[in-house]
Amino acid sequence: MVKAVVLGAAGGIGQPLSLLLKTNPLVTEHTQLSLYDIVNTPGVAADLSHISTPAKVTGYLPPDDGLKKALTGAEVVIIPAGVPRKPGMTRDDLFKINAGIVRDLAVGIATTAPKAFVLVISNPVNSTVPIVAEVFKKHGVFDPKRIFGVTTLDVVRASTFVSEILGDLSLASKITVPVVGGHSGVTIVPLLSQSSHPLPSGFAQEEVDKLTNRIQFGGDEVVKAKDGAGSATLSMAYAGAEFAYKVIRAAKGEKGIVAPTFVNLAADKEGGDALKKEIGRDLEYFSAPVELGPEGVVKINSLGKISEYESTLIKNAVPELATNIEKGVSFIEPSK
Ligand code: NAD
Ligand code: LMR
Repeated sequence: MVKAVVLGAAGGIGQPLSLLLKTNPLVTEHTQLSLYDIVNTPGVAADLSHISTPAKVTGYLPPDDGLKKALTGAEVVIIPAGVPRKPGMTRDDLFKINAGIVRDLAVGIATTAPKAFVLVISNPVNSTVPIVAEVFKKHGVFDPKRIFGVTTLDVVRASTFVSEILGDLSLASKITVPVVGGHSGVTIVPLLSQSSHPLPSGFAQEEVDKLTNRIQFGGDEVVKAKDGAGSATLSMAYAGAEFAYKVIRAAKGEKGIVAPTFVNLAADKEGGDALKKEIGRDLEYFSAPVELGPEGVVKINSLGKISEYESTLIKNAVPELATNIEKGVSFIEPSK
């Protein structure tokens, strides 16, 4: 039995993400899909429940302890609740509204489903993940192995853009490029030198720079194209579902599943300490390739061999990451 919960399920990401979960064979007759939002979840749940796949779908709203009911017995909780960007905004500009939303939802999870795997999509991820962790610490239920910032969209974009450069979109789902650091602008560090499918020979540094920049600012590309109507929703739903499947498959015992995700480096002390040495800074959180298992994080992998250019990208990412992390931590630290 797996109970998966989507918090923010009626939104631009929440609806297609719930659809993907409802239609994936991994989410079987033994699965309950529980949808929570401050609006429209009964409608979304009724709609999805007519799809001829086995997962049972239920929708909850805030009245009558809706959040608690939605979360009771949850094993996987995915959080896309919160406001998206408009052109001209940074992800950090969302902190003012989203920090409080994520904090309140985290209190609900900490008190009702403290053992659940928590997958945080709401931006700014570099700060909202520390918020969830600090809430869990306050409630005495913090397990760094179980809280994940979802950075999969950066990985998905990297695969797609590399496949475009190789002139073969059919390769996109096979190409893997580790993307590390965090999830905003310069904190997004694609390790293109480790692409499973190397860039064309003679690919100039200038072109590597352009491709790196496109991956780092892929979110802005979508925000600009949507022209005030929000940010990535469909590609994010795809990426969120992909990451959730990995967490569920690993929880069910499948071995060797590795995915980049933004985690507290205490999740694997040995790997985390080694990573801190590699990045040259004692950061509490970082997105790195993480091996997943039945209890969540099994191992935080080393970044491996990286180019001088990538090493500079990491150096540039670290100060902003440190600021973002501290902002999330200190939002909870005072008695709130
Ligand atoms: P949206 O506005 O379409 O949907 C957000 C949903 O959250 C709405 O349905 C809203 O009612 C709900 N909500 C608001 N407050 C809530 C609360 N207290 N409890 C439960 N639900 C609540 O926005 P969206 O496009 O779906 O984006 C959601 C978030 O995801 C944004 O913060 C966005 O920046 C982020 N995002 C992250 C990534 C990533 O890669 N991690 C990618 C895309 C978007
Ligand atoms: C993304 O990368 O698309 C998301 O983080 C949304 C955004 O604000 O860019």
